[in-house]
Amino acid sequence: MNFFADCTALITGASSGLGEEFARQLAPWARSLILVARRQDRLESLRGQLLEAHPSLQVLIRQADLEVEAERVALSAWIAAHAPGVDILINNAGRGDHGEFASGDWNRVRAMLDINIGCLTHLVLLLLPHLEKSRRAALLNVSSVAGFFPLPGMAVYSATKAYVTAFSEALGMELRPRGISVTALCPGPIPTEFFVIAEREAGRVPHYQTMPVFVVTPQEAVRAGLRAVAAGRARVVPGPVLAVAVGAALLVPFAITRWVLKNFAPKL
Ligand SMILES: NC(=O)c1ccc[n+]([C@@H]2O[C@H](COP(=O)([O-])OP(=O)(O)OC[C@H]3O[C@@H](n4cnc5c(N)ncnc54)[C@H](OP(=O)(O)O)[C@@H]3O)[C@@H](O)[C@H]2O)c1
Repeated sequence: MNFFADCTALITGASSGLGEEFARQLAPWARSLILVARRQDRLESLRGQLLEAHPSLQVLIRQADLEVEAERVALSAWIAAHAPGVDILINNAGRGDHGEFASGDWNRVRAMLDINIGCLTHLVLLLLPHLEKSRRAALLNVSSVAGFFPLPGMAVYSATKAYVTAFSEALGMELRPRGISVTALCPGPIPTEFFVIAEREAGRVPHYQTMPVFVVTPQEAVRAGLRAVAAGRARVVPGPVLAVAVGAALLVPFAITRWVLKNFAPKL
């Protein structure tokens, strides 16, 4: 993927799952990776592994709780002082919450709104000046297929991802004349820690296991996302089965989609 040759990429949520995989797949190409998350030990361990495999790579790590506005501002100032610019911003940090909205916990809901929407939007604004200085700037927002469908049992999560996809599409149209591409990665279920964190009760079977046909690996999802960025695509749904299913579902009148979701969404 020549597009990423010698780039500096900032990846949020790099301590696990897709974020960690973005770092692994970009490492052979990039000049510098900036890895951000709360769990510093995970970031340090990943940095060690990346440097062992790619000794000429520069890996900067920054521990930050990105739900907190002041920490996002501090991250931006730290980048201005310590990083060699930013060509690619991968807005990946996020979380879910699985269960009926009525029995939800406000702290979990607020954390999800803050990280999935507030953080993603604010980081774009903070880092745009860096992207504008780059010769091949790109922004990848990790959304979800949940953003296309209002999912009972993940009502707030699917609404946050509807925001991410809509925001990315409109922003892409605004930024293209400035030479910055915007891509929304819209995966279906991927086995990561996401499902452990999204479950309210420890030990529940992750609900993605009820739809195995749509599951893709983190490697497949990240590869599809990076290829879409390199091609300047506005959005991508990884996995051929899911891509066809989503494409078909979006052609159907919404009344039918609502009926299907009401009657066939996985039980809570
Ligand atoms: N897995 C799926 O099925 C799936 C499907 C569609 C979309 N997605 C999206 O993919 C993205 C990555 O999820 P994943 O599956 O890789 O889940 P994951 O393994 O749980 O990773 C989430 C990452 O976000 C970081 N994060 C969460 N809250 C943070 C905060 N307050 N500050 C800084 N970093 C924070 C976590 O790091 P720390 O905990 O160390 O801070 C972690 O690195 C999310 O946006 C998710 O919505 C996932």
